[in-house]
Amino acid sequence: MKNKWKVLVTETIGEIGLNILKDAPDIELIEEKSLTENELKVRLADINGILTRSGTTMDEETINAGHVLKVIGRAGVGVDNINIPAASRKGIIVINAPSGNTLAAVEFTIGCMLSVVRKIPQACASVRRGEWTRSKFTGCQLNGKKLLIIGLGRIGSNIATRCRAFGMDVFAYDPYITQKKADSLRVELMPNLEDAISMADIITIHTPLTSETKNMIDQKMIKGFKSGAYLINCARGGIVDEKAVAQAVRDGHLGGFGTDVFSLEPLAKDHPFLAEDISDRLVITPHIGANTYEAQSEVSRIAVENMLAVLRGEPYFHAVNLPFMEQTLTLDQKMYLNLSRKIGVLAAKLAEVKGGAVKSVHVKMRGIIFDKEEGYTEQFKPYTISALKGLLEVSLGEEVSYMIAPILAKDRNITVIESTGESHTYKNTIEIELETEKENVILIGTITEEGRQRIVRVNDYWLDFVPNGKILIFQNHDMPGVIGKIGSLLGESGVNIANFALGRKDDKGLALGVLEIDGDINDKIMNKLIKSGDLVWETTVDFSEENK
Ligand code: NAD
Ligand code: MLT
Repeated sequence: MKNKWKVLVTETIGEIGLNILKDAPDIELIEEKSLTENELKVRLADINGILTRSGTTMDEETINAGHVLKVIGRAGVGVDNINIPAASRKGIIVINAPSGNTLAAVEFTIGCMLSVVRKIPQACASVRRGEWTRSKFTGCQLNGKKLLIIGLGRIGSNIATRCRAFGMDVFAYDPYITQKKADSLRVELMPNLEDAISMADIITIHTPLTSETKNMIDQKMIKGFKSGAYLINCARGGIVDEKAVAQAVRDGHLGGFGTDVFSLEPLAKDHPFLAEDISDRLVITPHIGANTYEAQSEVSRIAVENMLAVLRGEPYFHAVNLPFMEQTLTLDQKMYLNLSRKIGVLAAKLAEVKGGAVKSVHVKMRGIIFDKEEGYTEQFKPYTISALKGLLEVSLGEEVSYMIAPILAKDRNITVIESTGESHTYKNTIEIELETEKENVILIGTITEEGRQRIVRVNDYWLDFVPNGKILIFQNHDMPGVIGKIGSLLGESGVNIANFALGRKDDKGLALGVLEIDGDINDKIMNKLIKSGDLVWETTVDFSEENK
């Protein structure tokens, strides 16, 4: 047997996942739970897979220390402790276990909410101190209260259904979900966070920590809360400004605050939430929202099984830095994925001809095949990413992966736009429009009923050719004999023409030709073609290694 894959586990994870690792014949399990940042970097040198929870920071430097690292597994949802672009740049797959702890977090949040509004932890502590002061612990009911859920994803949605059962009036702010989803949950979707906040008696946060949500609840936002409102954050530390929240509780503007998560965990001794004067209105817990036996078993199993699949080269799920899972696409979708890439390659070649750097890419998808929304983790559809991959491959080589293509486009300041709509020509078409520093490039492709890929438009020319094999594309003076001359030139050099397509336009006296050829067009042949004076420009594309 080949050398075993080395998997490092840095935190306490569910037994089920650990046992899978222990029993795997091809895995060497290394458990080291209290590594310092530097120790982790050194330890990672020969590690192929690392399994963490939220307590292990995988920043860029740490990731770069993993010379043979193939996969980072996160036994949980949040991946804010992992520098995803840094992992993607190194081709490291990041796996999480998104649904395994949802219900644990939901039930915990409701527990936290009830604890805050009824002061349950404080009442418990007072009895332990030997007191019996009931009036001090008068709280408020959930029934009839207006609840704002910020982030109506997995956890937020389940909070909505449970809180409606408490008789709460539930509304939500989440600019990324559809009205249809909110309607299905019978939750009113608010278009504006400030307005939503001003109406709420209780606000609960269920978004990831992103550049947009970082400090989303800051001093200014808190000022807009109803006086005496309650705030709950069992999502991520850093979404609320902790100092501002502590002060608002102190001032009485916030009736109470419950949180399971902090911007820095564990808390520093002088953290504002540890101030004694606000302890009667604060419920703070050490990031235990997902700590149920059921959830920990499930997240460890999901993360480990998928990590092993990555290492073994088998199909896997929940890769947060793969923009889509190719294996979930239908055959027709896969064919369009392949066509998009080829269109990207052709577009880059045509932009190269004019020598213009690409400023923006607009991928237009027309037809019902592009309607499927579910299952994509990225902001772009697979076809857009595939077109970007093709576009960038021309200058950066075939190692441009789907994972890295959108990052590379961003690095190069290329604006990426995608749109969908009805097709007015073929059943489905995919179109790419490049804005370059010189001239723009337009390409349209389709797949026929027989499953043949076709390019049907190049810039202003409608024509029809199959993007297979070796292709010579050129613009020529539209005069008698030109095509014959090109054919003879190629023939003399031993290059056979397998297919030929011509697009003509009346106004400019120019035509566009595409030849599929057998054999190679070397510099000598190219020079002869250029010298003939019949061509305005020409370029070659080699798709001969592609799947047909
Ligand atoms: P999810 O991805 O299913 O849902 C997140 C929702 O937030 C999405 O619907 C998204 O559209 C929305 N969103 C993103 N940016 C937003 C913004 N700027 N404004 C409003 N909404 C926005 O995630 P989930 O599984 O429901 O998890 C939610 C949070 O809970 C995550 O931060 C996760 O890490 C955290 N979590 C914490 C614990 C814990 O132990 N305390 C356990 C599990 C999950
Ligand atoms: C998560 O994101 O899944 C939770 O915060 C739980 C955890 O870190 O284990």
